[in-house]
Amino acid sequence: MSHPTHPDSLLDATPEGSDPRLAAAFPTDFTWGAATASFQIEGATHEGGRGPSIWDTFCAEPGRVVNGDNGDVAVDHYHRYPEDVALMARLGLGAYRFSFAWPRLLPTGSGALNPAGVDFYDRLVDTLLEAGITPCATLYHWDLPQALQDAGGWPARDTVARFTDHAVAVHAHFSDRIRQWATFNEPWCSAFLGHQAGVHAPGATDARLSVPAAHHLLLAHGSALQAIRATSADPGQLGIVLNLQHVSPETDDPADVDAARRVDAVHNRLWLGALFAGAYPQDLLDDVAPLSGLDHVHDGDLQTIAQPVDWVGLNYYCPAVVTGRPGQSERGEAAAAYPGCEDVRMVDRGRPTTDMGWEVDPQGFRDTLAMLGTAAPEVPIHITENGAAYPDQLVDGTVHDADRVAYLRTHLEALALARADGIDVRGYFVWSLLDNFEWAWGYGKRFGVVHVDYDTQVRTPKDSALWYAGLLAHHRARW
Ligand code: NOJ
Repeated sequence: MSHPTHPDSLLDATPEGSDPRLAAAFPTDFTWGAATASFQIEGATHEGGRGPSIWDTFCAEPGRVVNGDNGDVAVDHYHRYPEDVALMARLGLGAYRFSFAWPRLLPTGSGALNPAGVDFYDRLVDTLLEAGITPCATLYHWDLPQALQDAGGWPARDTVARFTDHAVAVHAHFSDRIRQWATFNEPWCSAFLGHQAGVHAPGATDARLSVPAAHHLLLAHGSALQAIRATSADPGQLGIVLNLQHVSPETDDPADVDAARRVDAVHNRLWLGALFAGAYPQDLLDDVAPLSGLDHVHDGDLQTIAQPVDWVGLNYYCPAVVTGRPGQSERGEAAAAYPGCEDVRMVDRGRPTTDMGWEVDPQGFRDTLAMLGTAAPEVPIHITENGAAYPDQLVDGTVHDADRVAYLRTHLEALALARADGIDVRGYFVWSLLDNFEWAWGYGKRFGVVHVDYDTQVRTPKDSALWYAGLLAHHRARW
């Protein structure tokens, strides 16, 4: 281990001026944490009886993931979780958001819980609690058991029942120790990156699959909430995590305005409408019905989907600016993830971007929060992810990631302003605790506040981790 082990050592190393005023802009009961997801960090894909997931399959297909990377080792969190929890404690995290790997708990997607899988998460959760860190669980962060994909995956209605059983079983076992639960992480990605753009598992490119997948993900969310509440005397706080994104037209040309309407419908209003208003937006239905049909929507489904939630999670990275004007096809990325938007391009405004090519725009965070606050005014919000990838260099045992510190600081300033606007945000989880497997980008994109050397698995806190620890220390000093 290259870092010292004294509990306060990271705080001692905190750079001067770790924003006491920023810390003071948040209430003393605000939750500060970091987030990860099972497939991105665990590794040990062939251990403990874990079954294959759609991401194992996708990674094995040539050309799907940059560099042919896969999740077999990842950052070896399956074995190194004690060290990782100790690191969280030294950062001063109050909470840790992680996901349960469905194929580790139910290797073929259904049946009885796998004792070795349960044991791993028992040990993780108990270690967190012993360290005084609140575990916050996500039930689905994209690693569908391959056996369920073989049976049709999310485009098949039967997957709703399988997820409901999984959710009830996992909740029943862990709800004595875990109080905050999310059903799904970013269902837009599962539906539309997975079945429309084809850049995520299972790699399909068909609106007849993506649109039913979106519906079944939402239906599984509502069905799981109903089932958990029906079977548990003390269900805890149940919610869902969305990656909403403020969308604007590049110009006020009607073609740009209509492009923004269509992208906004799929990215934002589909989810907000179904979850919080019990209806899909009519313009969205009009747009997608000719492409996908709507037979998958049954009577009563929207009532199930619109179960009240106890909280909602927002993952925010960047806004979207779009154009639908003819002749723009050489500019920006195609809006390939949006059914019916073949003519739309995502516009690069030439502003600073992260290593993902995503525009750095804290105002977009505030705008996105305003959208969520308007759609769900009564529902407490947690920022379940926010962060940035940069091409970090480990030099002499340190990573000077000033860009990431600036990203986090300016986004937290925007969050403080959104709270002052009256948006009820109660927590913030930085993405991510550790560098990890960034899906189709493999290990080349680093989002961690802690650097991981993928050859040695040595963890080294970056300057951003020290800055975050300092912010949290100021926060704790006000308790
Ligand atoms: C959102 C996803 O939930 C997470 O898995 C991913 O790594 C980050 N965004 C960064 O792309």
